[in-house]
Amino acid sequence: MSRLSLEGGHVLNGTVKVSGAKNAALPILAGTILVEGDSLIENVPNLLDISTMIKMLNSLDVVAEPYPDKNILKIRNNRKIRHIAPYDLVTAMRASFFVAGPILARTGYAKVPMPGGCSIGSRPIDIHLTGFKAMGAEVRMEHGFVELKCPKLKGVRMHLDFPSVGATENIMMAACLADGQTVIENAAREPEIDDLANYLNRAGAQISGIGTSVIVVNGVKRLTGCTHRVIPDRIEAATLLIAGPITGGRVTVEGAIFSHLEPVVMKLREAGCEVIVENDTTITAAFNGPLKAVNFDTMPFPGFPTDAQAQMMTLLTVSAGTSVVEETIFENRFMHAEELKRMGANIKTNGHTAIVTGVPRLSGAEVKITDLRAGAALILAGLNAEGITTVHGMNHLKRGYENLPEKLTSLGAKIL
Ligand code: EPZ
Repeated sequence: MSRLSLEGGHVLNGTVKVSGAKNAALPILAGTILVEGDSLIENVPNLLDISTMIKMLNSLDVVAEPYPDKNILKIRNNRKIRHIAPYDLVTAMRASFFVAGPILARTGYAKVPMPGGCSIGSRPIDIHLTGFKAMGAEVRMEHGFVELKCPKLKGVRMHLDFPSVGATENIMMAACLADGQTVIENAAREPEIDDLANYLNRAGAQISGIGTSVIVVNGVKRLTGCTHRVIPDRIEAATLLIAGPITGGRVTVEGAIFSHLEPVVMKLREAGCEVIVENDTTITAAFNGPLKAVNFDTMPFPGFPTDAQAQMMTLLTVSAGTSVVEETIFENRFMHAEELKRMGANIKTNGHTAIVTGVPRLSGAEVKITDLRAGAALILAGLNAEGITTVHGMNHLKRGYENLPEKLTSLGAKIL
């Protein structure tokens, strides 16, 4: 597994640009299956997960290629869509399951491998499937595949058991070409869903209620290609903002969207960081005296994002006092705690709760990345730690962070 070593104790100062949002680009690329003709998707982060989705689209005969560079994808959807998603791609990346709704809506039949769980949880797809069934699809699960059949989906009012991001996106995409109106109640409200809806509307869809928990889709006959620019990555922005205070420095992120970061900014301020919102897209976080313990629960948007939980916990490991962290979204998302404890952190976990008691400083160690966001947290820990930290499993990190080591080096980090 690829690894990265860094020397802690260097103060990070400077400005860094945020890349496009992985979790917006992935559903948007899946959505291009619905959209006939040519689309140009801009501000796409150059990530392993994006490469996986590009392979997925090409396997379905939607031609996707970087043009003219890796941050712009040209999509040519002019052939008959294939029905079956390849096993190796879906199991490599859970988000590949986002192609199920679009294939079903476009062709009337989709055969997609069950995505299976991952290190942070079982990651079921029951809410996705309940939505497709409500729209008239026949659903069969056998031999590790999900088969979805319905010549023409019908719009319907439905209520999601949980505001699942992926289920909201999959169902919303399928509803674009259904007969009649679909109302999705208790829909997730993450900004990445809004970005997907904006792309689809630009292509001719009729989606309203964007940003609310009730999304209304009036089905149309067809969608046609257009150009769309992906929103910035709020989780990368949160990670970079924490890199300032955790090293005693000051980091400005450019090209972010403040309204996507409010829950994180509030908690950074509560922890004693100085956070300056220079304008809607430029935010600075600076060390401003001893860091203080804070409590937080991860929640669906607009609550504190689960994808920033590990990074915020890392800041709390060196914040004076005792913090209580509740991870309410996933059943096993504290694996970074064991690795942080190897670096001297004082953390007790019990189910969905972690009790973090601050220590003056972490100490460098060899640690391993268990999931994408834990990887970023361990690098933040290494920036603070006394001595050298070696992080194993950088392939996880490359799935979701574009040039993170280079960005941190530009701010003064010492990557060996
Ligand atoms: C998306 O995953 C993100 N991935 C995740 O980011 C993110 O952590 C998550 O949303 C929550 O914000 C992408 O957008 C590609 P969910 P998703 O469906 O859609 C349960 C990262 O690091 N659930 O909102 O899979 C599920 O088990 C990744 O970038 C069901 O029970 O998340 C979980 O406990 C990690 N049944 C909770 O809902 C379902 O049918 C939230 O899952 C679907 C979900």
